[in-house]
Amino acid sequence: MLLNIRYLAFFGVAVAIPDERVRQASASSSRSSSISSILSSFSSASSSSASASASASTSTSTTSNSTASNPQGAINTTILAPSISHLPPGPNATSYPSDGKLHAPEPAPYTPAGGLGTNGSEPVYVPQSDFDFESLALVLYQEYIELDLFRSALKRFSVQEFEAEGINSEYRELIRFMSDQEVGHATMVANILGPKAPQPCNYSYPFTTVGSFIDYSQKSTRYGESGVLGFLAHLNSRPAASLLSQSITTESRQQAIFRQFKGLFPMPIYFVPGIPQSWHWTLLAPSISSCPSNQTRLIWQNFPALTIGNNPNSSNSGGVFNTPAISHNLSNPLTYPGREVQLSWELPGKPVGPDKSYITNTTAGAPKFVAWVSSLNVTYSPLKTINNTSGTTIQPNTTTLGGAPAINGTMFIAVTDTDLVVTPFNLSMINPHVVAGPALYQAG
Ligand SMILES: *[C@@H]1O[C@H](CO)[C@@H](O)[C@H](O)[C@H]1NC(C)=O
Ligand SMILES: *[C@@H]1O[C@H](CO)[C@@H](O)[C@H](O)[C@H]1NC(C)=O
Ligand SMILES: *[C@@H]1O[C@H](CO)[C@@H](O)[C@H](O)[C@H]1NC(C)=O
Ligand SMILES: *[C@@H]1O[C@H](CO)[C@@H](O)[C@H](O)[C@H]1NC(C)=O
Ligand SMILES: *[C@@H]1O[C@H](CO)[C@@H](O)[C@H](O)[C@H]1NC(C)=O
Ligand SMILES: *[C@@H]1O[C@H](CO)[C@@H](O)[C@H](O)[C@H]1NC(C)=O
Ligand SMILES: *[C@@H]1O[C@H](CO)[C@@H](O)[C@H](O)[C@H]1NC(C)=O
Ligand SMILES: *[C@@H]1O[C@H](CO)[C@@H](O)[C@H](O)[C@H]1NC(C)=O
Ligand SMILES: *[C@@H]1O[C@H](CO)[C@@H](O)[C@H](O)[C@H]1NC(C)=O
Ligand SMILES: *[C@@H]1O[C@H](CO)[C@@H](O)[C@H](O)[C@H]1NC(C)=O
Ligand SMILES: *[C@@H]1O[C@H](CO)[C@@H](O)[C@H](O)[C@H]1NC(C)=O
Ligand SMILES: *[C@@H]1O[C@H](CO)[C@@H](O)[C@H](O)[C@H]1NC(C)=O
Repeated sequence: MLLNIRYLAFFGVAVAIPDERVRQASASSSRSSSISSILSSFSSASSSSASASASASTSTSTTSNSTASNPQGAINTTILAPSISHLPPGPNATSYPSDGKLHAPEPAPYTPAGGLGTNGSEPVYVPQSDFDFESLALVLYQEYIELDLFRSALKRFSVQEFEAEGINSEYRELIRFMSDQEVGHATMVANILGPKAPQPCNYSYPFTTVGSFIDYSQKSTRYGESGVLGFLAHLNSRPAASLLSQSITTESRQQAIFRQFKGLFPMPIYFVPGIPQSWHWTLLAPSISSCPSNQTRLIWQNFPALTIGNNPNSSNSGGVFNTPAISHNLSNPLTYPGREVQLSWELPGKPVGPDKSYITNTTAGAPKFVAWVSSLNVTYSPLKTINNTSGTTIQPNTTTLGGAPAINGTMFIAVTDTDLVVTPFNLSMINPHVVAGPALYQAG
């Protein structure tokens, strides 16, 4: 069946669904021109990013200064209140009896009453709110960077450099296939967004070796996945949420595979954490060096950067160099409860992201806690401040449902001004309290 996307004529058919009408449409010029236009703008971005990345290898200060400062900040409109207020659960939150019996007439045989988007109306795969558009636009920035990341790394490093890290030709082919997956994902999200979809940009990566490329990729796919998990259930457009679920599960597999390339245990967690969009944008934006001048801009906040002074090296557990493996029972875990973690962070007001046109900001008070976001849990540890931009904390000892250590894998920490109680579905309530971060902690 044809996916009903409003800008069909502009972008062509979004997704290859095995149906005769789609097959015919996909042969039409409108589809090939739309996809090739995405790809041609990508390939110009890709070739220039290779030089951007190459210069990054010589000097980081040059990189940070290589683009003009053009501070416009995040887009905004009338702002109704400084933050969202906490309310009790809605009136009907617990009214369904959950007794295993049926409580309403069945709309059709074998069909329970209820659900969203189940009444037979034709699905339309378009944003239905600012929340939807801004969240999907953020995802598109992520899909483009991964596409560039995988392709440019395959071009940039030699066969010898890959082989020295144990990344043989079969594994390189897997990375190449992942870049093709990103073409599919980017095309899908761009089609949902329509003509004002963000376009591919130029990128500047902090890595100079194959080992650090793999590490960057297992971190980038972690925040790509967690960023989507954070907002997916909140989208107004259930049809868009449905397609996005189908792309994010392949992103999840990419994350596990990049961990395996590092010889790490592929999934040392029972639950994958979700993060707010502004956390995702804070982590993503610094690798975007420039975008087209008419680029669609985002609403999301860039928090001041947080750096972990003693973040474990994913290549290296207990001094042992890890080569690719399906799994690895790390006898010497990368971290443990009770470990002291050294932190430093920036003050707000720094230009970051594409063309240095976004500005870091925080509305939090004095730094007091570190929030650990992992599995289903948000746990706080007290922050021992050294001065107003650095401090230490102790890795907490917590478990999640089922008894596994809650803090494991590649996870998120942020410096906050309070230990606000939040759970996965309302984690973004923490944003007004974030002093700096998130940073990715390599817990396991
Ligand atoms: C960045 O560029 C400005 C203006 O060209 C210059 O004054 C400044 O020293 C540069 N900063 C760094 C860190 O290179
Ligand atoms: C809102 O956007 C305008 C126009 O770009 C900018 O001048 C202003 O600083 C922004 N306000 C906030 C609170 O970011
Ligand atoms: C609560 O749910 C019931 C049945 O699902 C519905 O009839 C009622 O209008 C709802 N009440 C509110 C306040 O939403
Ligand atoms: C069916 O559900 C959609 C939302 O999914 C709603 O917009 C539409 O009004 C509903 N149609 C009827 C006939 O109730
Ligand atoms: C930006 O300009 C290019 C070239 O004119 C055009 O193809 C593209 O659709 C524009 N993008 C947006 C988001 O307006
Ligand atoms: C993370 O999980 C792995 C696999 O179960 C385990 O070996 C390791 O000790 C755990 N690390 C932490 C910090 O709990
Ligand atoms: C990428 O950088 C090159 C070289 O500075 C520039 O010509 C091009 O316009 C940039 N492209 C984008 C999409 O920002
Ligand atoms: C991490 O460990 C690997 C292997 O020992 C080493 O080559 C690399 O330089 C280390 N990375 C950092 C950032 O220290
Ligand atoms: C973590 O908590 C468990 C259960 O309370 C306890 O057995 C264990 O000794 C604690 N570990 C550390 C390092 O405090
Ligand atoms: C941070 O955001 C607040 C509220 O939107 C705004 O009033 C303030 O000017 C911003 N600060 C900076 C440094 O941009
Ligand atoms: C804060 O303390 C850290 C760690 O001792 C130090 O490196 C840094 O220079 C200090 N910053 C300021 C502004 O004093
Ligand atoms: C972690 O989250 C689970 C599920 O919400 C909860 O049962 C458990 O008590 C939490 N653990 C801690 C230490 O907060």
